[in-house]
Amino acid sequence: MGEPLRRSALDEHPMTQFHLWFGEAYDSGLAEPNAMVLSSVEPSGMPRSRTVLMKGYDRSGLRFFTNYTSRKGQALEADRRACVVFPWHAIRRQVLIAGYVERLSDEENDRYFASRPRGSQLGAWASERQSQPVSDRTELDRLFHEFDSVWRADEPIPRPAYWGGFRLIPREVEFWQGGEDRMHDRFRYLWSEGEWEIERLAP
Ligand SMILES: Cc1cc2nc3c(=O)[nH]c(=O)nc-3n(C[C@H](O)[C@H](O)[C@H](O)COP(=O)(O)O)c2cc1C
Repeated sequence: MGEPLRRSALDEHPMTQFHLWFGEAYDSGLAEPNAMVLSSVEPSGMPRSRTVLMKGYDRSGLRFFTNYTSRKGQALEADRRACVVFPWHAIRRQVLIAGYVERLSDEENDRYFASRPRGSQLGAWASERQSQPVSDRTELDRLFHEFDSVWRADEPIPRPAYWGGFRLIPREVEFWQGGEDRMHDRFRYLWSEGEWEIERLAP
């Protein structure tokens, strides 16, 4: 960081480049470097954004978890196009990844759900109706306590069928790094005919 971004320093695969930058964001001590703003397309055609946590990545894409029946879950099932931004302002970097989502397998979902703290697992059960109006906070707390008494403390909690993850498969990835006098460095990777093309963009 601090050094201008040069084409020669970029990896040919955007997810390997992402891996390098994510490591640097993580090491910089940035709060929640895995928080990303996810935009989806509503049935009306309106874009809609919210923050979710990226819970893993590899060359095939990024994983995040949510409630499949939530507003975003339904929107993503109806229109698989999505875009995420990692707003790493404190280190003057931003990464944008656009592409399409696919549901993770039941096995992947079960594995990740089982790795979560018990409280988060109960929270998933209590928020079956994510994105829908609730009467008040008491109602939410009541649901949480109700589920808390369903399973013993030493008993595994099953994953609710409506809860799981998506993989965002990248088709366009942009790396932005702040520079002097607003002469920022931007590089875009575009998936084209089976390979990644890299171009510098005007800031
Ligand atoms: C830092 C942060 C991390 C979040 N992570 C998640 C997440 O991983 N999954 C999720 O479903 N919601 C997460 N949320 C809540 C979402 O932003 C959103 O409020 C919720 O998922 C409902 O969105 P929807 O109504 O568009 O479906 C997070 C919020 C914040 C501020």
